[in-house]
Amino acid sequence: MSSSASIIAPHGGKLVNRIVDAPKAAALKAEAAKLPKITLSAKQACDLEMIAIGAYSPLTGFVGQADFESICRDMRLANGTIWPIPITLAVNGEAKPKVSRGARAALYHPDGTLLGVIEVTEVYPHNKKLEIPNVFATEDPAHPGVKAVQEEGDWLVAGPIDVITVTPEKQPGEQFTEHRLPPAKTREVFRSRGWNTVAAFQTRNPIHRAHEYLTKCALEITDGLLIHPLVGETKPGDIPAEVRMECYKVLIEKYYNLNRTMLSVMPAAMRYAGPREAILHSLARKNYGVSHFIVGRDHAGVGNYYGTYDAQKIFDRFDQVELGIEILKFENTFYCKKTGGMASDKTTNSSPEERVFLAGTKVREMLKGGHRPPSEFTRPEVADILIKWAQSSPAA
Ligand code: ADX
Repeated sequence: MSSSASIIAPHGGKLVNRIVDAPKAAALKAEAAKLPKITLSAKQACDLEMIAIGAYSPLTGFVGQADFESICRDMRLANGTIWPIPITLAVNGEAKPKVSRGARAALYHPDGTLLGVIEVTEVYPHNKKLEIPNVFATEDPAHPGVKAVQEEGDWLVAGPIDVITVTPEKQPGEQFTEHRLPPAKTREVFRSRGWNTVAAFQTRNPIHRAHEYLTKCALEITDGLLIHPLVGETKPGDIPAEVRMECYKVLIEKYYNLNRTMLSVMPAAMRYAGPREAILHSLARKNYGVSHFIVGRDHAGVGNYYGTYDAQKIFDRFDQVELGIEILKFENTFYCKKTGGMASDKTTNSSPEERVFLAGTKVREMLKGGHRPPSEFTRPEVADILIKWAQSSPAA
């Protein structure tokens, strides 16, 4: 059985926890009633949760100006620690006069739930001209991540947060409580299962055969596999997390070894920042206690903004030891009729006609029409859940 020492260290060395105990929570609730109020966006509420549970260790709150600039320019915090995307609390001009340096402010979920309190260390201009081209490598407002930043407030409020709860009271829909394990808990599970090495799979899609293949290749070289879908804010048009969770559960139950596989969710918001987001995703997984992280083709990408393997190449800029988590890079994979199995350019020299490939739009069309994609592309059990969703949801 493994000891705690054998599990990977969190990013920056110490796992952050900004969720307060019950007496402190009661005191904060009383204090909050007298504080200026900031209502978070859905993305900011996701960020608050990620910080609070330690998934964004070493961050203890929303970043200040020196970190913001250093992250945008050099992908590092001001103290040199690798960090690729600024985690900020943007407010607009109306909210700005309510908060000032040295003050405290109460943070609310969009549904009105009091989430916590920020101790304001700085209020500074939101330099979108610096952030957008550096983080997204484009300034095109059609890019969903760029658009989100462009629409955010022009001031950034920085400071450590103390969080009362990460569970909104009135938000409709599933919280996946049973699977919403914070990093301290996933670490505990890995320890109790004797997994010293764990590969994590990030996804914002249902798991198709290509995804399944990557996860199983990874598990061949690690003790355990963490299927770790992102369930925070995603763009309109992405498949809702509750539908995906149904797919993951039936798939894992039937096609994975339950002794070696675990399903848990990550409450982060998607930014679609491709390469830089791949780094953020890997550092968060390191905090969850994961030793190996899967990066396939066009990780966290959208449209044609990033090259197919840009999200892999960006890791070459960092020293592996400093990064602290091993990146498992996979080529584009597909079912190959010639060899009768999943493959990539590395493992088959079949012709394009011998490969099962379906574009996303084609898959949607099939599902809406009640047709299962070929089983070489999607498992039938997963296809049936997606057909049910596609035929009942106007957004599909
Ligand atoms: S992402 O936004 O979370 O990256 P998605 O859920 O589609 O989107 O992908 C999850 C992971 O699987 C990413 O690492 C991505 O690069 C990888 N991936 C998806 N499809 C393939 C494929 N056909 N071949 C290789 N890697 C893939």
